[in-house]
Amino acid sequence: MAVRFSFLFLSSLLLTSSFWLLAFADDDVSTVAGDDLLIRQVVDDDNLLNADHHFAIFKRRFQKVYATKEEHDYRFSVFKANLRRAKRHQKLDPSAVHGITQFSDLTPREFRRNFLGVNRRLRLPADTKKAPILPTNDLPKEFDWREHGAVAPVKNQGSCGSCWSFSTTGALEGANFLATGKLLSLSEQQLVDCDHECDPDEPGSCDSGCNGGLMNSAFEYTLKAGGLMREEDYPYIGTDRGTCKFDKNKVAAKVANFSAVTLDEDQIAANLVKNGPLAVAINAVYMQTYVGGVSCPYICSKRLDHGVLLVGYGSAGYAPIRMKEKPYWVIKNSWGENWGEKGYYKICQGRNICGVDSMVSTVAAVTTSH
Ligand SMILES: *[C@@H]1O[C@H](CO)[C@@H](O)[C@H](O)[C@H]1NC(C)=O
Repeated sequence: MAVRFSFLFLSSLLLTSSFWLLAFADDDVSTVAGDDLLIRQVVDDDNLLNADHHFAIFKRRFQKVYATKEEHDYRFSVFKANLRRAKRHQKLDPSAVHGITQFSDLTPREFRRNFLGVNRRLRLPADTKKAPILPTNDLPKEFDWREHGAVAPVKNQGSCGSCWSFSTTGALEGANFLATGKLLSLSEQQLVDCDHECDPDEPGSCDSGCNGGLMNSAFEYTLKAGGLMREEDYPYIGTDRGTCKFDKNKVAAKVANFSAVTLDEDQIAANLVKNGPLAVAINAVYMQTYVGGVSCPYICSKRLDHGVLLVGYGSAGYAPIRMKEKPYWVIKNSWGENWGEKGYYKICQGRNICGVDSMVSTVAAVTTSH
């Protein structure tokens, strides 16, 4: 677990000028139309010559229909920019595969607004309890809660910034499985409609449905409300309904307590193994183009903008230069099974890549007799 990223490897990269070119080109905050000269230099022509062909396949595969010719042409230009972006991501993240995804006709801004959903303060409220420090000497080399029945099928948040609600239900589904032996799928829509929990340190900052939220406030809401209903009793519609249809008599899982896990990968692993899947936040910039493999970008912002579920860890020989065993986290996403590796993402350990270790919470469920 304690394997650290090789600094020798990183510094050898720093010495190559192509690395600097890529590093400057990776300004994903800039507009996607990005006619950035630096970007152009790292794209080979064949990619763009094939753009028509790729776009036709993309439209068929993801059943994309555009209302007007203008919209179609605009989306094609965005798509081409995303092909260039995927190519940049591929160079910066060689152990993963980057390419065309269902998000390839969206600008990074549209993507962030509609498919992420951690849009506010990135720190935990001051009064969040800290998880107790656990022993780490007996941790298994690999672990995956999917193999122990604690993980519900991959869900799809659709075009709604409600990732935080899926991260929350995923963690409580796992904790409830540990407490009761039963795996129930829990309601995100209850959180979207009913949870308006605010940050005690920053009262204007509250959970707000498709406009984002935070897992820890959602645990707090769930604790106060009395629990979450099942998915089938309060189904997901992927929009802000504006009214809360929570029925306290139909609570299926209750929060006993929740706490923040310290920024330490051994502690994160120990909490995962002991308490079930963990709610984590991440910077999702590489996820827009992710197709598979272990994501281990040389550079990635730690600005957290997406809530996901940590379900396991493993190791594989994926290091690009020497095929060394390197540990990675297994992450459940909420963009359906057609994204990534059947809905899952792998990201390397060792450097708090994309902030994945920065905001980790564990939840315990009440044992109920239903
Ligand atoms: C959280 O709740 C669980 C289940 O009731 C309990 O076993 C555990 O000790 C609690 N943890 C903390 C840190 O209070």
